[in-house]
Amino acid sequence: MAIPSIQSAILLSFLVLFLGPYLQTAKLCSCSDDHKVGNCHSIERLALLDFKKGMEDPSNKLSSWRLDNEDCCKWHGVGCNNVTGYVKELDLNTIKDMAQTTRLSGGINPALAQLKHLKYLDLRGNAFGSIPDQFIGSVKELRYLDLSRNYFEGRIPQQLGNLSHLHHLDLSKNLFSIQELQFLSQLTSLEYLDLSGSDLSKTGESLRYINGLHSLSELHLSDCQLSSFPLMTNFTTTLSVLDLSYNNFGGFFFKAILNFTALQSLDLSATEIQGPIPKAIEQMTSLKTLLLGLNDLTGHIPDVLANLTSLERLDLEDNHLEGPIPLSFGALCKLKELSLYNNNISGEITEFVNGISLCRPNSLLETLQLGHTKLTGNIPYSIGNLKSLRILYLQETSMNGAIPKSLGQLSELEALDLSLNAWDGELTEDHFANLANLIVLYISFDEKPPKPLFFNLSSNWVCPFTELFHLDLTNCQLGPLFPSWLQNLNQLGIIKLENVGISDKIPNWFPNLSLQALDLSNNQIRGKVPLELRNGLKSTEMRMLNLRGNLFSGTIPLNINETMPNLEFLSLSNNLIEGSIPSSICNLKQLTAVSLSSNYLSGELPQECWKDLRFLEVIDLSNNHLSGKVSISIWSAPRLSLLSLSKNGFSGNLPPNLKTLGPLRVIDLGENSFSGNLPMWMWKRLPHLEILRLRSNSFSGFIHEHHCLLHSLQILDLAHNGLSGPIPHCFGNFSGMATVDPTNPFSVYGSIEGIDLRRSSQEFGDQVNVWITKGIELEYNRTLAFLQCIDLSHNAFSERYLQR
Ligand SMILES: *[C@@H]1O[C@H](CO)[C@@H](O)[C@H](O)[C@H]1NC(C)=O
Ligand SMILES: *[C@@H]1O[C@H](CO)[C@@H](O)[C@H](O)[C@H]1NC(C)=O
Ligand SMILES: *[C@@H]1O[C@H](CO)[C@@H](O)[C@H](O)[C@H]1NC(C)=O
Ligand SMILES: *[C@@H]1O[C@H](CO)[C@@H](O)[C@H](O)[C@H]1NC(C)=O
Ligand SMILES: *[C@@H]1O[C@H](CO)[C@@H](O)[C@H](O)[C@H]1NC(C)=O
Ligand SMILES: *[C@@H]1O[C@H](CO)[C@@H](O)[C@H](O)[C@H]1NC(C)=O
Ligand SMILES: *[C@@H]1O[C@H](CO)[C@@H](O)[C@H](O)[C@H]1NC(C)=O
Ligand SMILES: *[C@@H]1O[C@H](CO)[C@@H](O)[C@H](O)[C@H]1NC(C)=O
Ligand SMILES: *[C@@H]1O[C@H](CO)[C@@H](O)[C@H](O)[C@H]1NC(C)=O
Ligand SMILES: *[C@@H]1O[C@H](CO)[C@@H](O)[C@H](O)[C@H]1NC(C)=O
Ligand SMILES: *[C@@H]1O[C@H](CO)[C@@H](O)[C@H](O)[C@H]1NC(C)=O
Repeated sequence: MAIPSIQSAILLSFLVLFLGPYLQTAKLCSCSDDHKVGNCHSIERLALLDFKKGMEDPSNKLSSWRLDNEDCCKWHGVGCNNVTGYVKELDLNTIKDMAQTTRLSGGINPALAQLKHLKYLDLRGNAFGSIPDQFIGSVKELRYLDLSRNYFEGRIPQQLGNLSHLHHLDLSKNLFSIQELQFLSQLTSLEYLDLSGSDLSKTGESLRYINGLHSLSELHLSDCQLSSFPLMTNFTTTLSVLDLSYNNFGGFFFKAILNFTALQSLDLSATEIQGPIPKAIEQMTSLKTLLLGLNDLTGHIPDVLANLTSLERLDLEDNHLEGPIPLSFGALCKLKELSLYNNNISGEITEFVNGISLCRPNSLLETLQLGHTKLTGNIPYSIGNLKSLRILYLQETSMNGAIPKSLGQLSELEALDLSLNAWDGELTEDHFANLANLIVLYISFDEKPPKPLFFNLSSNWVCPFTELFHLDLTNCQLGPLFPSWLQNLNQLGIIKLENVGISDKIPNWFPNLSLQALDLSNNQIRGKVPLELRNGLKSTEMRMLNLRGNLFSGTIPLNINETMPNLEFLSLSNNLIEGSIPSSICNLKQLTAVSLSSNYLSGELPQECWKDLRFLEVIDLSNNHLSGKVSISIWSAPRLSLLSLSKNGFSGNLPPNLKTLGPLRVIDLGENSFSGNLPMWMWKRLPHLEILRLRSNSFSGFIHEHHCLLHSLQILDLAHNGLSGPIPHCFGNFSGMATVDPTNPFSVYGSIEGIDLRRSSQEFGDQVNVWITKGIELEYNRTLAFLQCIDLSHNAFSERYLQR
């Protein structure tokens, strides 16, 4: 057998390579203090312990680094030359080390310089903060140095230039501002250089030192605030990976890169390049990865891209490309990922999919992202042959027709988004037959189509995608019964079944889930709220609960703060819920928006609790039977932007003085029994107020001239009160109103929608975005639709003043 002879050859080479120096140092050691324990030299052990002393290690990652654990070669992250015993490798990379993500921090103790034979140093993803100059200049044997993601700031130490053997240097994602790159001129062996995330805008001429790195094959200068780049003619034939993404080149820059014919990977994402993709790109025949997303590319996708037959990843997303997917793309059989997301690409996908589906032995396509385009036609049946597909995104195109059953053959599929198209017909068990790996399924419509997409699944169908996490079928037709196939989906975290035609109770079999978001709005679901929440739907993970527009009855659960302590968005509006609002609502410390409107809630509001809700932006309690005085504290929620208490029986005066006030944009107290004067703060301290609706109350007193301080006001409705005295002149002068388009009194919508819910939409994706404000928005559309911009009618204002 050949294996033993290979082993002995390796052993022999180790003897030749390492035994020489070992014997020499062994000789030296006999006359110094150094001695070895196990494999480890005591000098090096002490150096490592000094290094440890200087750091914080919260997760005790370096617990093996102890004086009494003598063989330092066995310590976590330490690697020794197994012949000489010298430490050659120190790997404290926290990013690789997924299990232990806690960072080491503190300084790098220069004692580390004692490791004279260190060849490999990886400190990626810690928080060391500063690099001692004298240390870095002295580890001269280093071949591999990764100091990325460590919050290093200021200048890069020029002593790095002493590391003349370096092959791999990664300083990326720190806070360096690099003025001077001269140190690079000495690093002639460098093959890999990553300075991404450093500010290189002031390095100027010094950038040319990169040109001298003759061995360079991989260069990453992403997000370096570069606006130009020297042409680097010296490695047009050696460089294989070039990442210049997130800089501001613009203009003709692209053409300059075309001569890098050896490139296998080119990333020019977000570099402000413009104009058509140059035809000359066909000469870059080695390209496997071409990333040109987030630019201003225009024109058609050139046919010649298909000449890049090695292409595996092509990303053109977020440009202004138009025209069809070139026919020739069907021949790109190595393609694993194609993204044309957010372009004006048109035409059908049939030829492309047919072409790829004929690839021998198999199509390798894993990701097909064609969403947000002008593509037309239907999904070709041949899609079922793209057996490697993991991600298929066709959302928001102009595609239509029936969804082919062959989709059900994509057994590797993990994410499917067919939302916002004009599909018709039905989805059957065949459509999902082999989708065992599905994690994300979105088939939603903007509004219910006249012939909704029908889910024709039998009640005993066993759903194959048991790992599904995120489901959004808004405006499809699933009802009238609660879809029984949800039964074995035990991993669901986000469910959006808005307006899917369910008129049923939440069944007893509903799985016990750790839901983060549940939206069952606009169905006809019956049942008592607390009961239903016991029914597997309560979850300490729950962040959004939207049951709006159903037939839920019963009361708001008293212990809602215990069953869903992390709730951020709660809507129970338009149901049949009765009883009072429990004070436990105020113990939902993460609450951002709450809407309980249009129910049969009664009694008084919980007192003195609202002001502690630091994140609360929206309170909508309108159209109930609530009564009594309104606690001062409701005005004091520090982020409150929309407060609607309209159509209730609230009474009493508004508080005359307030210490804190939220950044209110909408106040609607209409159709209650509030009385007394309109307090000064309402006019003087609400610079963002857009809608003020106090209609049909018993407010009285004068309005003063300073009321004109409401510069953003767009709708003012004071009608049906007992207000008297002059109407201030300046009422005709609200700057917000001046810009209102009279045919569209709801220009204010945009702003209500603009309430910052980004936190949630980022985490839950665009699918579960601003649903609660959408609900409120609809409400306002209805109640305000008949209002003038200003309605002061039915008061006791004196006409004398009006005329003046
Ligand atoms: C020494 O280490 C090398 C690689 O690190 C390994 O291949 C070799 O087997 C080791 N030799 C001995 C004697 O442990
Ligand atoms: C290189 O190392 C020598 C000796 O350690 C030192 O004197 C010199 O300043 C260093 N040079 C750089 C550029 O760091
Ligand atoms: C480019 O390479 C040539 C020859 O290899 C060399 O003379 C020249 O200095 C290099 N240019 C730069 C900027 O390093
Ligand atoms: C590309 O290479 C060609 C020929 O090798 C040369 O004429 C041209 O100037 C180069 N273009 C750029 C932008 O460097
Ligand atoms: C590109 O591909 C087309 C069609 O396969 C072929 O005719 C043309 O010669 C190719 N161009 C280059 C530069 O290879
Ligand atoms: C698509 O075309 C329309 C009309 O020309 C334009 O308004 C829009 O910005 C374009 N979209 C993209 C992504 O280029
Ligand atoms: C549902 O599927 C069954 C069996 O395939 C079929 O007989 C029935 O017509 C379908 N129903 C609708 C509404 O399409
Ligand atoms: C639901 O699951 C949670 C945690 O997974 C568990 O604590 C709870 O007892 C379960 N409830 C029921 C009714 O099974
Ligand atoms: C829930 O709210 C009730 C009523 O306000 C309160 O007594 C209870 O301590 C709260 N529980 C938690 C965990 O906050
Ligand atoms: C109306 O607004 C203009 C500009 O904002 C201001 O100059 C003027 O004094 C205002 N008129 C009244 C009556 O307040
Ligand atoms: C609001 O009402 C207008 C006019 O009735 C309508 O065109 C618009 O679509 C409505 N907006 C919403 C969000 O329903």
